[in-house]
Amino acid sequence: MAKKQLTISYEESTYQTVANPGFKELIDATILFAKNAYAPYSNFRVSAGLRLKDGTILCGANVENASYPVSICAERTLISNTIVNYPTTLIEEIVVYVDKDLNEPVPPCGMCRQALLEAEQRQNSVIKLSMVAKNGKILTVASCSDLLPWSFDGSYLD
Ligand code: THU
Repeated sequence: MAKKQLTISYEESTYQTVANPGFKELIDATILFAKNAYAPYSNFRVSAGLRLKDGTILCGANVENASYPVSICAERTLISNTIVNYPTTLIEEIVVYVDKDLNEPVPPCGMCRQALLEAEQRQNSVIKLSMVAKNGKILTVASCSDLLPWSFDGSYLD
């Protein structure tokens, strides 16, 4: 039997060393947006921001519900809003931020990874994704697909 492995490539950096002004602007907008999260049950405020190809920056945050499974994550709030309101403009880059003192940036949940993957596939162009921690640590994948290797997608339904 052949043993196989999948690996995920990502980069580590810090907010303090961000040189690209566009990237810094996106991070700053995303961090500010965490206050818009509606998270009265978990108090775990997540925000996500993206930059479209035309330079537009859009943000989203998690929205919880007393019926817990009705809640929606920041990433899917943002992706759904963007796809319906800007259906033809490419998403270039996404930032995810969690407003909590943690040592490491928080990676998107499995359901959001699936949604991010399809957002990328529908536009046929990679979306860079960075996870930003409150302490300034940043983890970046060059493509959302890097977060979900061995994934299910629409090609199986053809
Ligand atoms: N949450 C997100 O918004 N994004 C993720 O990727 C992980 C979890 C939210 C959902 C819920 O409102 C809270 O964090 C706690 O799970």
